Amino acid sequence: MTPLIIAIDGPAAAGKGTLAKRLAARFGLPHLDTGLLYRATGRRVLDAHGDPADPATAEAAARALRPEDLARADLRGPEADAAAASVASIPAVRAALLDFQRDFGRARGAVLDGRDIGTIVFPDAPAKLFVTASAEARGLRRWRELAGRGLAADLAEVTAQVRQRDAQDAARAAAPLRQAADALLLDTTELDADATEARALALLRERRGIVPPG
Ligand code: CDP
Repeated sequence: MTPLIIAIDGPAAAGKGTLAKRLAARFGLPHLDTGLLYRATGRRVLDAHGDPADPATAEAAARALRPEDLARADLRGPEADAAAASVASIPAVRAALLDFQRDFGRARGAVLDGRDIGTIVFPDAPAKLFVTASAEARGLRRWRELAGRGLAADLAEVTAQVRQRDAQDAARAAAPLRQAADALLLDTTELDADATEARALALLRERRGIVPPG
């Protein structure tokens, strides 16, 4: 039997990561937050005082990534967000990170979340969710996340940064953020984490006949 791939894509702070972790636990699958690959690449460039928009520098950083880079504590925050989106728009960076993502999923199935999982990384995945929410709801979630880490920020500014990164992710030529034709749309604007998980499980069961084991 082919191992199950659950592809979760969507804009920034839509709740992809929380949902991905919960579905991974339900289905007994490993989880890969693919945003971490781009975040860690951007961080390596920043560490070396390089320009995240420079293709050669960013590609070298992507090729030099080590598993421990993904566990770094400084991969989130406005500077890391912007560096991740910059390196992610470079085709050579995306190419350098593709095999790792495919190997991760092929081994024993996986839940992967990102921007291009259902369109590029695993276009044949049987289970694809496109998770979104209003920009206001997503800005508020990101603002709360920052507050929870003790980082004071301005809500309007955080919401503007979320919108700006979505626009950049959607407009780029390389693997732009978009809903795959066969992805199930899940709007989490009015849903908390429990309700989002319940809705995702219902969509997978009713529309794809996919249910957790046991
Ligand atoms: O957590 P959040 O939704 O804010 O972002 P993320 O999923 O960690 O992704 C950070 C950035 O990496 C995004 O803004 C994209 O530019 C890029 N990314 C991508 O291009 N493709 C992916 N599969 C995952 C992330």
